[in-house]
Amino acid sequence: MTSTTTVTEPLPVPHAPGGPVLELRGITKQYGALTAVSSVSLTVAAGEILGLLGPNGSGKSTTLNLVMGFIKPTSGEVFIHGHSLRTAPRDALEDVGGLVEGSAFYPYLSGRLNLEMVARLRGLPVSRVDEVLAQVDLERAQHRLFGDYSQGMRQRLGVAGALIHRPRLVVLDEPTSGLDPAGTRAMRALLPLLASQGTTVVLASHLLTEVEQVCSRIAIMQAGSVIASGSLDELMGARPRWRVRVTPPERPRAIEVLRALTGTRSVEPPTEGAGSEGDLQVDTSAGGADVNRALIAAGIVASEIEPIVPTLESVFIELTERGAAR
Ligand SMILES: Nc1ncnc2c1ncn2[C@@H]1O[C@H](COP(=O)(O)OP(=O)(O)OP(=O)(O)O)[C@@H](O)[C@H]1O
Ligand SMILES: [Mg+2]
Repeated sequence: MTSTTTVTEPLPVPHAPGGPVLELRGITKQYGALTAVSSVSLTVAAGEILGLLGPNGSGKSTTLNLVMGFIKPTSGEVFIHGHSLRTAPRDALEDVGGLVEGSAFYPYLSGRLNLEMVARLRGLPVSRVDEVLAQVDLERAQHRLFGDYSQGMRQRLGVAGALIHRPRLVVLDEPTSGLDPAGTRAMRALLPLLASQGTTVVLASHLLTEVEQVCSRIAIMQAGSVIASGSLDELMGARPRWRVRVTPPERPRAIEVLRALTGTRSVEPPTEGAGSEGDLQVDTSAGGADVNRALIAAGIVASEIEPIVPTLESVFIELTERGAAR
């Protein structure tokens, strides 16, 4: 018995259960000469909350718009639940909800009626409207016209609309922009709740504290590229530093010794004189004991060796400044 199979085209890779919910493969988006997004590759697993963090104009919204299928990449491919957005957009977008740059609602209808229309279009029971209105705490304002809503209320309704069909992937651009402190707190509580139910969330923000509080993984964007990504711990842990105190006369020798230590990237201040009042900051992969041992071997006794615990802000500023200097 013989069997012959001729494969002329590569077979589509079936979406393995547990495979990535979202995958960006080498995505580039150009607007004329401007590269808004440059060779971005990202993978997001189920239940993750990925935060795209970056300065204004770094390409966060463009990336989210590409994921939502509102714009097409110049090159590269987006896969959602294993479906290519290019070859199978309906399958890819079926299970996605998003709020990108303010949602389109009718100003002359109430918030509630707007959501009821969305529910009807999607064939959802009206009970879902009540559920999402409660989720975004908009029950009291549900009968007011959307046109009369404040910016924060519009934002909330947009989120309600994004969640109404219980999508497995939720994409949110600056979800707390325009929200008051109570609304901001509620939104930051809602996202982990969604994630705990298995929903995957991708959000863009330039608010470090927001990303720090809410996201399980962070991708830092700058000038269209992802310059670093990982869990908060990974991003922080990637930059161990030590603060070393020696007497001023010992400083020049200490700087020399620490610069020679295996794993050292920098010693600041790099020379005697510059900020000679302060302590030395050693950026090294070496442990505190190694730092101490090296100094002692050179006859220097440090009065203090202390780890510098980074904040997301310090990591972000260092990474983006280094990127900008490139
Ligand atoms: N439709 C467009 N046409 C031309 N250029 C665009 C377009 N959309 C975005 N850009 C440019 O692409 C770059 C990235 O913009 P994007 O809106 O993605 O940044 P962002 O990270 O979301 O910024 P912000 O923090 O201000 O929201 C910017 O230089 C922007 O001017
Ligand atoms: Mg934006």
